[in-house]
Amino acid sequence: TLVPVILAGGKGERFWPLSRKHRPKQFLSLDGSGKSLLQTTADRLLSLAGGWENLWVITNGLIADGVREQLPQLPEANLLVEPQGRDTAPAVAWATIEVSQRYGKETAIGFFPADHWIGDQQGFEKTITAATQLAITKPAIVTLGITPNFPSTGYGYIEQGHLDNHYEGLPVYQVSRFTEKPDQQTAESFLETGRYSWNSGMFIFRGGVVLEELETYAPNILHPLLEKGIEAYSNLEKKSIDYALMEKTQLAYIIPADFGWDDLGDWNALERLAQNNRKNTAIAHHIEQDTQGAIIYASDSDEVVVTIGIEDVVIVRDGNVTLVVNKNQTQQIKQVLKLLQDDP
Ligand code: GDD
Ligand code: MG
Repeated sequence: TLVPVILAGGKGERFWPLSRKHRPKQFLSLDGSGKSLLQTTADRLLSLAGGWENLWVITNGLIADGVREQLPQLPEANLLVEPQGRDTAPAVAWATIEVSQRYGKETAIGFFPADHWIGDQQGFEKTITAATQLAITKPAIVTLGITPNFPSTGYGYIEQGHLDNHYEGLPVYQVSRFTEKPDQQTAESFLETGRYSWNSGMFIFRGGVVLEELETYAPNILHPLLEKGIEAYSNLEKKSIDYALMEKTQLAYIIPADFGWDDLGDWNALERLAQNNRKNTAIAHHIEQDTQGAIIYASDSDEVVVTIGIEDVVIVRDGNVTLVVNKNQTQQIKQVLKLLQDDP
């Protein structure tokens, strides 16, 4: 069995103005289904977990009530609430300690970001099952590799090593190198070799294995948590698990994933999900003339957005805020947010 833990403490600032402090990206419904990213993530993991009693969520105090509201079936004991976000290394360390205490150190744990789109549920379950078998068979930190299609600087890159074995009919490789968020030039050189995948951000391992690895590579995070528990949190180093552990461990393995994956990183993701290329993507009542490649979102589906003679623009209406941004500059939303002293 597998105990899945959903990492749900990020901010998702690039989805502003829809994402706000108390309503981060994982609470949003971006596909028009009415279900939030968090709810969809939980649904996707339920059968692997064998029910709600084995599904966990780790998040921060600011949005914990939102998580309770969105996932009413999640047992309170499975909700870990950080006093404040310290990035994913402390989150993974703390959740691994707690899950290992409840189920034992030999139990397989899986960490899953709350902000992913997965195309093929069956393929996803098969891959996670293979990863779980591998993790139970040997000391392994299993990653899932995504075939890269451009030299993104926003992902981790995994260099595939030797073939190790097959699980569930899927090939498993050793990882020869893990590089988190390389610069553009490095990313380009990785792509040229053909040996690199993007890191999907999901990790599967036995609790005891990762506690030992953290002991070696991140004792400054592990020890305070073991000694003082949650009290230690606010003094922990802010670091992601990719830098703290994945770049250093010798126990990493990779399973190439082909179940359809997207990191819903910014507004452009809506268009990729809709797969309609040069037409417009609208979650709103959109009336247009001579409009190409627009991405339109209105929180209130009754709202009418009219566009004439524009191209490649993102328009978002939410409450008293309207955002209009060039599709190529959505990364800058983060910077603009810093200028806005109060989150309007
Ligand atoms: N509980 C908790 N606490 N969760 C957190 C925190 C925190 O302090 N910070 C981030 N998260 C959650 C986010 O909500 C998200 O679901 C997940 O952890 C990953 O964090 P991101 O901030 O979205 O990471 P990233 O996208 O920059 O990079 C990671 O994911 C990429 C794939 O999407 C890395 O693992 C990359 O290597 C990977 O390629
Ligand atoms: Mg992310």
